[in-house]
Amino acid sequence: MINFTIIFITLTLIGNAQDLPNVKIYIESLCPDTAAMMRSISNSTIDSLDLLANVEFIPSGKMNTNTYEANTYMTNCQHSEEECYGNMILACGLQIQQDQVSSTKFVRCFFKEAYEQNFQKQIEKCLQNTQQKLQVKACANGPQGIELLYANRLRTPNLSYVPSIAINGQIQKLKEDFGKVLCSLSDAQAICKDIKWV
Ligand SMILES: *[C@@H]1O[C@H](CO)[C@@H](O)[C@H](O)[C@H]1NC(C)=O
Ligand SMILES: *[C@@H]1O[C@H](CO)[C@@H](O)[C@H](O)[C@H]1NC(C)=O
Repeated sequence: MINFTIIFITLTLIGNAQDLPNVKIYIESLCPDTAAMMRSISNSTIDSLDLLANVEFIPSGKMNTNTYEANTYMTNCQHSEEECYGNMILACGLQIQQDQVSSTKFVRCFFKEAYEQNFQKQIEKCLQNTQQKLQVKACANGPQGIELLYANRLRTPNLSYVPSIAINGQIQKLKEDFGKVLCSLSDAQAICKDIKWV
């Protein structure tokens, strides 16, 4: 009997997770609009995240079309070649996060610390412990980082604006806390009515 109850609860939880919208957020490491959007993310969004959506951040963004050549995903980023390295650090940092809440906190921290444009400081501030920091540095300076960057490039659609958000595949510009965008969806009203945006 107890076993059946546990199975039932588990299936119910899995069912709910699958019903949530699948959200992808396209970002760039040196993009002022991405930084502004990420810094605007409230703690309320982070606290409600698991009820709102399945969220994934994809650091890659737009290519700098002026210098476009095939296979230049390491150097061809909208704001500079340096931005590609920052995207790689983001990708490496995201790779080791346990869940979407810690992923969101990591990316928000990265952009809160972005004023000095010093990726090493962002690594120091935004990763939990020495082991994680070493892992991310090794990843971003080696083949794993390159693979992640390439994979993100392939998964990034032709964007007209960065940051953009895809909600179940529908892309739109993202100019505010994405929690507020998700709460404007009709399915989210029951969850969002009690959120105090601070
Ligand atoms: C949001 O959470 C962070 C810790 O994650 C905390 O430092 C900050 O003070 C909180 N902000 C507000 C407005 O409560
Ligand atoms: C992407 O958009 C640009 C214009 O912004 C266009 O020239 C190009 O053909 C598009 N590429 C694809 C693969 O749709």
